[in-house]
Amino acid sequence: MQNDKQRIAVIGFGAMARSLQASFRRAGDQFGVAATLVPEEFAPTPSELGAVKLFNDVSDLIDWRPSLVVECASHDAVRDYVPALLRKGIDTIIVSVGSLSEKRLLDSLEAAATEGRSRLTAVSGAIGGLDVLRSARSAGLSSVAYTGTKPPSAWTGTPAADIVDLASLSQATAIFQGNAEQAARLYPKNANVTAAVALAGIGFEATQVVLIADPSATANSHRVEAQGAFGSFKIELQNKPLPDNPKTSWLAALSVEEAIVRHFRAIDV
Ligand SMILES: NC(=O)c1ccc[n+]([C@@H]2O[C@H](COP(=O)([O-])OP(=O)(O)OC[C@H]3O[C@@H](n4cnc5c(N)ncnc54)[C@H](O)[C@@H]3O)[C@@H](O)[C@H]2O)c1
Repeated sequence: MQNDKQRIAVIGFGAMARSLQASFRRAGDQFGVAATLVPEEFAPTPSELGAVKLFNDVSDLIDWRPSLVVECASHDAVRDYVPALLRKGIDTIIVSVGSLSEKRLLDSLEAAATEGRSRLTAVSGAIGGLDVLRSARSAGLSSVAYTGTKPPSAWTGTPAADIVDLASLSQATAIFQGNAEQAARLYPKNANVTAAVALAGIGFEATQVVLIADPSATANSHRVEAQGAFGSFKIELQNKPLPDNPKTSWLAALSVEEAIVRHFRAIDV
C-alpha cells in the first residue's frame, strides 16, 4: 500500500516540477511526485515521466484521490483546476501566486475551499519576509514597498520595451512605478512576487511597486520595505535562477519543496 505522503500530484511538469522530483529523489523516498496533471498538448514523453502517472483530465486526478496537489504550471492552471480540487476536499499548494491578484478567482477559491473543507496554500516563492508582514499587519502597517530589479533582457516582451530602449540602457532605469494591482496587470510574469507581498501585507491597492531594468544586474533582486506600528523592516534577495529555467528563481522551487514537507510535518516550526 502506498504511503499517503507519496500520493502527491503536481500540475504541470516543467522546470519546477522536475526540480522538485529530482530533489525528493536525492533526499530518499519519504516524499515523491507520484502523478502529474498536464493537458494532452503539453504532455511529457514517457521517458521524461518515468514512474510518474500522467493525467490529462482533472476529474481523473480527483478519482485517483491525491493526498496533496501542487500547482507548478500557470495562472490558467490555477483558474482551470484548483477550484474543483478544493471543492472535492483536496488540499492544494499553488506557486502561480500572481493568479490571486484576480479578485474573482480569489473569491471562488475561498468558496471552494470552504465547501470542500480543504486548504489552499500559496508558497512564498522567490520572496521572503512574508511572515513579518503577516504578523505586523494587525497592529497597522503604514507602508509596504516592493522593488524588483532585473537585467534589461528580462523585460523584453513587456510594456517596458515601449517605454525605453532596453538594449541600449547604460544605467538602472525605473520602467514601472505604481501599485501592486497595476503591476500585476501590466507585468503578469512578475506578478507572483508582488501578489505574495500584497496579500501578506496591505493589499494590492496600497502596496507600492517599482520595477527596474539594470544593465549591471547579474541576478534578479527583490527588495521589500515596510513601516508600521511594529517598527520597520527591510529585506533584499539576490536570487539565482533554476538551472533548467532561467526565468524561475531556484528559491521559488525550494519554497515549493518546503511547503510540501511542512504540510505533512507533525510539528510546524
Ligand atoms: N511564486 C513565485 O515566486 C514563482 C516564481 C517563479 C515561477 N512561478 C510560477 O511557477 C510556474 C511554473 O514554473 P516553471 O519554471 O516550472 O515553468 P515551466 O514553463 O518550466 O513549466 C510549466 C509547466 O506547466 C505546464 N502547463 C502550462 N499551462 C498548463 C495548464 N493550463 N495546465 C497544466 N499544465 C500546464 C507546461 O506544459 C509546463 O510543463 C510559472 O508559471 C510561474 O507562474 C512562481
